[in-house]
Amino acid sequence: MQQNQQRMNIWDVNWFLDEKQCPCDVHFLEYLEQGKITGASIFHFGTGGHHVVGIRTAENGSGNAVLGITASPQEYNDYVKLVIERPEVGRTYKAFFGDIYQLDARLLPPFDFVTLFHTGEFRTEKNDEYGALTDLEVAELLLAKLRPEGRLLFFSGSFAYDKAEAVAANLVNRGLIESEPDYKTLRIYRKR
Ligand SMILES: C[S@@+](CC[C@H](N)C(=O)[O-])C[C@H]1O[C@@H](n2cnc3c(N)ncnc32)[C@H](O)[C@@H]1O
Repeated sequence: MQQNQQRMNIWDVNWFLDEKQCPCDVHFLEYLEQGKITGASIFHFGTGGHHVVGIRTAENGSGNAVLGITASPQEYNDYVKLVIERPEVGRTYKAFFGDIYQLDARLLPPFDFVTLFHTGEFRTEKNDEYGALTDLEVAELLLAKLRPEGRLLFFSGSFAYDKAEAVAANLVNRGLIESEPDYKTLRIYRKR
């Protein structure tokens, strides 16, 4: 891809699972499994090229369904390969390529869990060039899609956690969400 043709603020990396550096996906899976969560619908920000949330959810008999978003062409290519090779995974795991800052509420179903682990990490002035949403607007949009009592989750190990914390505090102060006990590195909020 020629740099001068590129306008979308893509993530030009294929992220492999690195539990030491970035344990959020693994902690989220453990949280669901320990809570014996079944039959839930999940929106997941940042699939990684490993696609572990979608794969383990499909394998563990939970009946949970995952909609993941990636801004990495390489990670999306790996999703395509994954579901061609393992269509049983693709039944409950759908991933799409796009910029989370361009989500359109009309195209999203209701969710029980929304992960916003990478809030504030990747949004720059490049997103402004095409009128993208802010981090707070993304959280508000997805909160509106959460079912009553649904959970919004942030990752305290994020390098941009100060920004995520500010988004969460804004929603708490407006009475839209309330804090629940942490699970390892995850900060969990329940929709009010
Ligand atoms: C550091 S990787 C982490 C992946 C995985 N959650 C993990 O912890 O292993 C960041 C992820 O965020 C995604 N991402 C970055 N910017 C994005 C954007 N604007 N919209 C959607 N996804 C984005 C990347 O595609 C990538 O999957």
